[in-house]
Amino acid sequence: MEKVNLGVIGTGARAGLVRTMITDEKKRGDIVALCDVNPDHLSRFEKMVETGLGHGTSNYSDYHDLLDDEKVDAVLISTPDFLHHEMAIEAFNAGKHVFLEKPVGINLEQMIEIVRAAQNADTILEIGYVLRYAPFFVGMKQLIDSGEIGTPLFAQALEEYYGAFHFYRGWWKSREHVGGIMIQKICHDMDLHYWFFGKPRKVVAFESLMDFKPGGWDSDALNCDDCQNPCPYYTKAEGSRTGTNECVYNAPHDISDNTQILVQFESGLNLSMGMNFFNARGQSDRHWKVVGSKAELSGRLSTGMVRIDPRHDTNMQNTRYLKFTSGTGGHGGGDALQILEFLDGILEGHEAKAGIESAYWSSILIMGAQKSADEGEIVEIADLTRKYPFPG
Ligand SMILES: NC(=O)c1ccc[n+]([C@@H]2O[C@H](COP(=O)([O-])OP(=O)(O)OC[C@H]3O[C@@H](n4cnc5c(N)ncnc54)[C@H](O)[C@@H]3O)[C@@H](O)[C@H]2O)c1
Repeated sequence: MEKVNLGVIGTGARAGLVRTMITDEKKRGDIVALCDVNPDHLSRFEKMVETGLGHGTSNYSDYHDLLDDEKVDAVLISTPDFLHHEMAIEAFNAGKHVFLEKPVGINLEQMIEIVRAAQNADTILEIGYVLRYAPFFVGMKQLIDSGEIGTPLFAQALEEYYGAFHFYRGWWKSREHVGGIMIQKICHDMDLHYWFFGKPRKVVAFESLMDFKPGGWDSDALNCDDCQNPCPYYTKAEGSRTGTNECVYNAPHDISDNTQILVQFESGLNLSMGMNFFNARGQSDRHWKVVGSKAELSGRLSTGMVRIDPRHDTNMQNTRYLKFTSGTGGHGGGDALQILEFLDGILEGHEAKAGIESAYWSSILIMGAQKSADEGEIVEIADLTRKYPFPG
C-alpha cells in the first residue's frame, strides 16, 4: 500500500484532526469517505476536502455503509463517546485500521470488548491519546527513561481547563454519554502516567460539582436566550461548539467539575492528579512534577519548558531548562502529528504508539478512578485485572 484511504465517521469538531493530511507533503493518506448523521457537518467537511484535496468523497449517514465501502482502508471514529464501542468493534470486523478517539468506550465492559476486537483483528488500533505525540511529553518521557532524574519516586499533575464549559451542554453533559468526567477528560493524563511509570497497583479518587450548578451565577435561566444576566459562557446556539446554548449552571446535567486522584504504582511511586474547570483563564494548562532519586523535573505544557533541578545541588547553580518545541496546533502540537503517525504505522506495518496495551492500561487506571469516586472505595487494580483480564 502506498497511500492509506481514510474514512471519517463523525465529522464534528475533533475530526478537524485530519487537516494535516491535506497539507502533508508525504501524502501518506487520502480522505475518501465521510459519515455523519448531521448533514450540515457532513457538507462542511466535504467542502473542506474538496478545497484541500481537490476531489469529492463518498458520503454516508449510516456508518455501516462506510464500513462496507471497499476502498476504505482505515477509519477515524470521532463520534460521541457512547458510540465508540459499537463503531470500533464493527470497524475491526470489517477489517479496517482504526483511529478511535478517546475514551476507549465509556465503561470497563465496553473497553475490554474493544481491546478484544483489536487483538483479534489483523489491523491497527490507535487511541486518540494525542498527548503522547506532544513534544513536551515526549521530552519528559525521554528524560525519565534516560535515567537523568534517577528512579522516579513521586509525582504530581494538575489539569486546569477554562474551556470545559461545553461539558454542561449537548451530548457531553450526561454520564450516560461519557461515562464520567474522569473517563472523558483525564483519560489522556492517566495514559501518560502509565507510559511514564508503568502498571498501577491501587487508586482512590474523589469528584464533586462545586461551581457549574444552580447558584454558580446570578440567573435562573435554563438557556442563554432567556438569560437577563449573561455570564462569560453566554452563547448563541448556532455556532456554539455543541450546537446548543443550555445554561451551564442551571440546565440539568450530571457531570462533575473537579476531581482529585491518588494512584500508587507497582514501583511504589505515589502520584496525585487534580483537575478543575473553574480555574482562572490564564492558568489553563497541564502542570507536571516528577521527583526522581537524582533530580526533580517540572514544567507546564503551554510553555514547552521543563526545569531540571539536581537533588543535591547545594549552591543551586545547576538548574537546567529545556524547551521542547510545542509545534503548532492543539494539545501542545500533538494534534498535527498523531494522524500522520497513525498512517505511518499502517504503511510501515508497526503498532501504534497509543495502541492496544495503552488502551487497556490507561482505561483500567481511569475507569478504576471513576469506580473509586462512584463507590467511595480504594480500588485494587488486581481486582479489576482479574475481572477484566487483558485479552489474548
Ligand atoms: N483526543 C482529544 O484530545 C479530543 C478532543 C476533543 C474531542 N475528542 C473526542 O472526539 C470525539 C468527538 O468529539 P467532537 O468534539 O468532535 O464532538 P462533536 O459533537 O463536535 O462531533 C461528533 C460528530 O459525530 C456525529 N454523530 C453523532 N452520531 C453519529 C452517528 N450515529 N453516526 C455518524 N456520526 C454521528 C455528530 O453529528 C457530530 O458531527 C469524542 O469522543 C471526544 O471525546 C478527543
